[in-house]
Amino acid sequence: MPTPHLPPTVAAHVPTGLLIGGSWQRASTGRTFAVEDPATTEVLFDVEDAGPADGLAALTAAADVADEWAAVAPRARAELLRSVFDALTARSEDVAALVTAEGGKPLAEARAEVAYAAEYLRWYSEQAVRLPGLARTAPAGTHHQLVLSRPVGPALLITPWNFPIAMITRKVAPALAAGCPVVIKPAQLTPLTTAYFAEIVRAELEAHGLPTGVINVVPTSSSSTLTAPVIADPRLRKLSFTGSTEVGRVLLRSSAENILRTSMELGGNAPFLVFEDADIPAAVEGALAAKMRNAGQTCVAANRFLVHESVADEFGNALAARFRGLVVGHGADAGTTVGPLIEAAAVDNVERVVADAVDRGARVLVGGERPQRAGHFFAPTVLADVAPDALAIREETFGPVAPLTTFGDEREALELANASEFGLVAYAYTRDVGRVMRLAEQVETGMLGINRGLVSDASAPFGGVKWSGLGREGGEAGIEEYLEQRYIAL
Ligand code: SIN
Repeated sequence: MPTPHLPPTVAAHVPTGLLIGGSWQRASTGRTFAVEDPATTEVLFDVEDAGPADGLAALTAAADVADEWAAVAPRARAELLRSVFDALTARSEDVAALVTAEGGKPLAEARAEVAYAAEYLRWYSEQAVRLPGLARTAPAGTHHQLVLSRPVGPALLITPWNFPIAMITRKVAPALAAGCPVVIKPAQLTPLTTAYFAEIVRAELEAHGLPTGVINVVPTSSSSTLTAPVIADPRLRKLSFTGSTEVGRVLLRSSAENILRTSMELGGNAPFLVFEDADIPAAVEGALAAKMRNAGQTCVAANRFLVHESVADEFGNALAARFRGLVVGHGADAGTTVGPLIEAAAVDNVERVVADAVDRGARVLVGGERPQRAGHFFAPTVLADVAPDALAIREETFGPVAPLTTFGDEREALELANASEFGLVAYAYTRDVGRVMRLAEQVETGMLGINRGLVSDASAPFGGVKWSGLGREGGEAGIEEYLEQRYIAL
């Protein structure tokens, strides 16, 4: 199997099977599917293609150890997670190489992702011994009230392709810390990093004398076929999903039958506001961070740039100059700052969005087209004078396109920022503290970055309002998604 751009020492340690009940297995379907390098379209590996029977076998393995895992002392769960943190950190170069190979992002970004991913393990190793609880006398004085945290039970984790390691640890770490065994259905486009990580966890569980069945992995090319019977099975008690709002809705509907606890990290359409009093060079750097991480393929990517009309030209030209200096290429090549998009359809979509904006009068300040090279690339693009009804403003683009539109005053900026069904994150650059507080009160969002283009942090609650989802990941809130309260009156 050719594995271009992936060191052979890493390739030799990537499991390509299903992890069920502590052992790597073949799929019951007898099929495999190919995982490609998006920068070259070359096949990296053929991976076992799990079917519904495998999904249910993984759930059985998780359910079989649920009571045992819930009874493991919080300190022992904490120490396991800390060991996984150490092991992942020790192998961070290998994991970063895998993230780049299957996901495309530049190696420097992949390294940052591994560090970010590891923080979820460290944070939840520290939270595992601090599960919430309560004891008090009832107001009437008739009895005492004791409230315990209990693990919700076996959890199905459906993860996206854009952060092949961080979106896994963000779910696995709080689930294991809370005492829930897991079944992971990784993204079809990026299952290799999950498999590599799952083997680290399996080995650490074994080394600690803990049940290896608490982590199960079922890669598949047919997600809904595999997950439907798992979601319908009464042994499953929790579903955590990161992906599109469209798929989230379908999963919420099917979860209703089994009354599942759900966490939904869905789409975004982040506004990036630049006020007239902003530090423009700082806003440009923040815009670059908020827009170009993973070539714009993040739910928290700045999707719409709303700029005060008095600074629009200065900001637009400076941003275009920064975009012009970006180096598009294979993520593993030295000097690359922008990798490919994940697949051909993603490039088609970006092209459609840019063409629509131009048809409605937008000016291309830089980029606007596919570079002439193999792989799924699109040039970093800045568009000025974008009409408010253009697709680039209304839809989540998930690509390296920064559409700029203007506003005249703060009230208009707020109206534009809130003119979306989504509310995951917003960014604002201003030096006015009063305005910062008004934005904090009035922007309809789960997260707000002030004079910062990056908000993500393992210790903070990540999540959105409106169509951007339900629940939070990270921080104190993240573990509560895997806990339920048991009230005892005594
Ligand atoms: C995402 O795009 O879904 C996650 C991004 C992040 O955690 O920063």
